[in-house]
Amino acid sequence: MTPLIELKDVSFSYSTGNGSVEALSGLNLSIDDGSFVAIVGSNGSGKSTFAKLLNALIVPSSGSVVVDGLDSHDKSNVYAIRSKVGLVFQNPDNQIVSDTVEDDIAFGLENMGLGVDEMKRRLEVCLSLTGLAALRHCSPDMLSGGQKQLVAIAGILAMQPKCVVLDEATAMLDPNGRRMVLGLCHRLNHEIGMTVVLITHHMEECIDADRVVVFDKGHLAMDGTPREVFSNAPLTRSLGFKLPPVTELAEHLISSGIDIPHGILTSEELCSALKAAYAREVHSKGVHANEVHAKGSSAKVVHDV
Ligand SMILES: Nc1ncnc2c1ncn2[C@@H]1O[C@H](COP(=O)(O)OP(=O)(O)O)[C@@H](O)[C@H]1O
Ligand SMILES: [Mg+2]
Repeated sequence: MTPLIELKDVSFSYSTGNGSVEALSGLNLSIDDGSFVAIVGSNGSGKSTFAKLLNALIVPSSGSVVVDGLDSHDKSNVYAIRSKVGLVFQNPDNQIVSDTVEDDIAFGLENMGLGVDEMKRRLEVCLSLTGLAALRHCSPDMLSGGQKQLVAIAGILAMQPKCVVLDEATAMLDPNGRRMVLGLCHRLNHEIGMTVVLITHHMEECIDADRVVVFDKGHLAMDGTPREVFSNAPLTRSLGFKLPPVTELAEHLISSGIDIPHGILTSEELCSALKAAYAREVHSKGVHANEVHAKGSSAKVVHDV
């Protein structure tokens, strides 16, 4: 895969009244076009700073961020970078600007100088991709948090970006809303090849990602497939984030002596690992019992004699 976004030696410091805070330091990372990357890390580890760098809301204090060949240090690239990388924030209410769902989705298009037909075409595509067509005339105020986030994502899709970055966009949603948003992200990734960067505190949302990147105090702490990252329970715990619930349960079973592998991610995997462990146990007990039985019968023979 070709990289869509490349960060080279990126550091970023916020100026404060009494000096500066270094939020990221010496970060090297590239994100492949069409990939689904989950970003995790404890509070203050630099995730939101990273998100803002990806769509040129901020530029690195040193190092470079290049998006689809465009360096964010060059001011003339900023508009193009923002239309290539859309950012969805945590609070759905802060992202709604219009009175109806369809006006909200079309809002960003109005300043792009597109013809009416092209605007209508894009609106229909976005309504269809997000499954919001039936709600197009509703007031966004009437929608659930999850539906509001779908509207925010639809508004971004209307700009035809290459990448969508969600900065804890599921954090304020109920489980149903989270499922809706996550389901849409996976569909966009699979069906139209959209690059997705999902920043989250919910580890189970990372399981189907191509890659999990872990931030710690402004540095890259881990980077691998979900199984690679979540197999290392001691390291993940020391970095201050939880394992996915099924992985956590599997780790408890391992520590209580059950012979299943590390890095189990789903309940299906856990069931088959437990079945295999049980079959091994029964097999070894069966062999053992047969041996005892065989010894017992020979002893009886000896006794009879
Ligand atoms: N606007 C700001 N001004 C000063 N410091 C900030 C600002 N935003 C973030 N920081 C600091 O930068 C570091 C990284 O923050 P952030 O990127 O928001 O982390 P995360 O999203 O992982 O919680 C933290 O130490 C935070 O306090
Ligand atoms: Mg944050």
